[in-house]
Amino acid sequence: MLPMLRPRGRTMMLDAPAPALVQVRDLKMYFPIHTGVLRRHTGDVKAVDGVSFDIMAGETLGLVGESGCGKSTVGRALIRLYEPTAGSVRIAGDDILSLAPEALRRKRPEMQMVFQDPQASLNPRMTLAQIIGEPLIEHSGLNPTDRLARIYELMDQTGLNRRFANRYPHEFSGGQRQRIGIARALALNPKFIVCDEPIAALDVSIQAQVVNLLEDLQDRLGLTYLFISHDLSMVRHIADRVAVMYLGRIAELSPRDALYARPLHPYAEALLSAVPEPDPDREGSRQRIILQGDVPSPANPPTGCAFCTRCPKVMEICTTTRPILAEVEPGRQVACHLYPSEARSNQPNSRHAAPSGSTGGGSSQHQQHGV
Ligand SMILES: Nc1ncnc2c1ncn2[C@@H]1O[C@H](COP(=O)(O)OP(=O)(O)OP(=O)(O)O)[C@@H](O)[C@H]1O
Ligand code: SF4
Ligand SMILES: [Mg+2]
Repeated sequence: MLPMLRPRGRTMMLDAPAPALVQVRDLKMYFPIHTGVLRRHTGDVKAVDGVSFDIMAGETLGLVGESGCGKSTVGRALIRLYEPTAGSVRIAGDDILSLAPEALRRKRPEMQMVFQDPQASLNPRMTLAQIIGEPLIEHSGLNPTDRLARIYELMDQTGLNRRFANRYPHEFSGGQRQRIGIARALALNPKFIVCDEPIAALDVSIQAQVVNLLEDLQDRLGLTYLFISHDLSMVRHIADRVAVMYLGRIAELSPRDALYARPLHPYAEALLSAVPEPDPDREGSRQRIILQGDVPSPANPPTGCAFCTRCPKVMEICTTTRPILAEVEPGRQVACHLYPSEARSNQPNSRHAAPSGSTGGGSSQHQQHGV
């Protein structure tokens, strides 16, 4: 248990019937590379290269992986802060990527983002009340009195003293600024929030407070989170399931406890071998796996499995054939040739696994690709 983190009273019932609030299918986000005097399009940075997953209503999906693997790009593309290259995203039934501008504007309140750097994401010339009130002016139509009441309500919910309503961001600590960012994200009663490294810029002593706040709000307001983080210990605390990304693709997507106890994908195994074990006996026997070599460029990913240049278990097929992300155990999806393709293709789709084509989503014809 990390210092000052409260034990979670809530357990996500993975077997309970719950609709997927978020359905992502074969999402791709390529950033074009232009070179030469004529700025010709000579290639693409494949930041996200065929990612599929579901997030159940009320669930927290953790998204982890090394720096540059595409976590933030997934978070931004799926709420259309970027225009994705391909794929489909459904949030609460709406096909986000095909919404016309006005329909997207009306949908915005339901899907919000909390950013890593609260300092950079808050306008230094606006007071706290103006920052939290801005989305209310844009979307709610509340009169000034009701708007102020809502601002106070949000400040109460996020632990901000009402007396600070007319202060500016620089007058607050990092943790308080992140509370302002969370209050702003909550202003329009969202269903789904992308939390992109929301604690990475905070002191360790403050991190637990912000995570506790996010958990309390989730319990009280029924929020659904995509929680992006480098901090594998924090993800272990907050997430119900975890997707491990490598070079723009999902390597493994599993329930949290199963993943941390026994990662199946060789990359997930290496990544999690660095996480200290709370149990002293298991910590004593923990073997750290050090990967050799650098992460390849997303502008020129390897043929076949993206992890083949660094995988300790690489086989011949890995260098030629891209493994598909598929269910290898109930609720566990892995993209790796170590797992027989029959075992993968014959498994029924789990309710909590992103399906390979049968449970709807905007583009059931898309095949789901793995590492
Ligand atoms: N606007 C952009 N234009 C071009 N390339 C980009 C852009 N944004 C991200 N990239 C590239 O896409 C890849 C994925 O970046 P992204 O920021 O999504 O990674 P990340 O997993 O969030 O990393 P970190 O953990 O450092 O935040 C990187 O190679 C990055 O350089
Ligand atoms: S497909 Fe091959 S290279 Fe990729 S993770 Fe599995 S064993 Fe390693
Ligand atoms: Mg990032």
